[in-house]
Amino acid sequence: MRFLAAIGALAIVFAIGCAIFFFGGYYSVAATAEDPAAVTWALTKVRTASIERHANEGPPVAFGETAMVQAGANAYASFGCVNCHGAPGVKWLKYSEGLHPDPPDLKKVAADLSPTQLFWIVKNGINMTGMPSFALAGANDAEIWSIVAFVKKLPSVSDADYKSWTASAEPKQ
Ligand code: HEC
Repeated sequence: MRFLAAIGALAIVFAIGCAIFFFGGYYSVAATAEDPAAVTWALTKVRTASIERHANEGPPVAFGETAMVQAGANAYASFGCVNCHGAPGVKWLKYSEGLHPDPPDLKKVAADLSPTQLFWIVKNGINMTGMPSFALAGANDAEIWSIVAFVKKLPSVSDADYKSWTASAEPKQ
């Protein structure tokens, strides 16, 4: 009984300590604050598991056709993915270096994510990171699928292709 009471008391002290630490402003929300390795590890695991569990919409039949990939490049430029993630022959905007976590090079991650997972990520975004939900930003499912088709092809898209496919791209207002 004594032992249980001690555990209970410790739990209360710990809860009060946490409340003071977080609500008292001691925790730093600065993007410059380095995360401990354990936090980065845990956040990455939680993100990956969450995407695996939630992503369940399969690609449309026309997925991967040239017209869709080209339309996807145009939408990728118009919706501003290029600012944070870069594109063939286009530099990432300087502010993307200030995001924490930093936006990955999609050329490198395209092969590791299935079309279903990419679709879910672009549609819903990743909470508490700079990755926006493009459904909330006004993209419809067809536009998002075209962006996914383009991202899947990214490793083999040349600078010249990207330039010509996005020649008519206008930023979304
Ligand atoms: C304002 C900056 C910003 C914009 C604009 C943006 N992203 Fe992101 N994106 C991020 C950040 C930051 C992450 C990293 C999130 C993380 O580490 O959990 C990310 C992550 C991703 C991932 C997941 C990568 C992985 O390894 O799991 C994909 C895919 C992605 N973005 C695609 C896109 C596409 C496609 C667009 C445009 C429709 C876009 N992003 C627009 C900032 C951005």
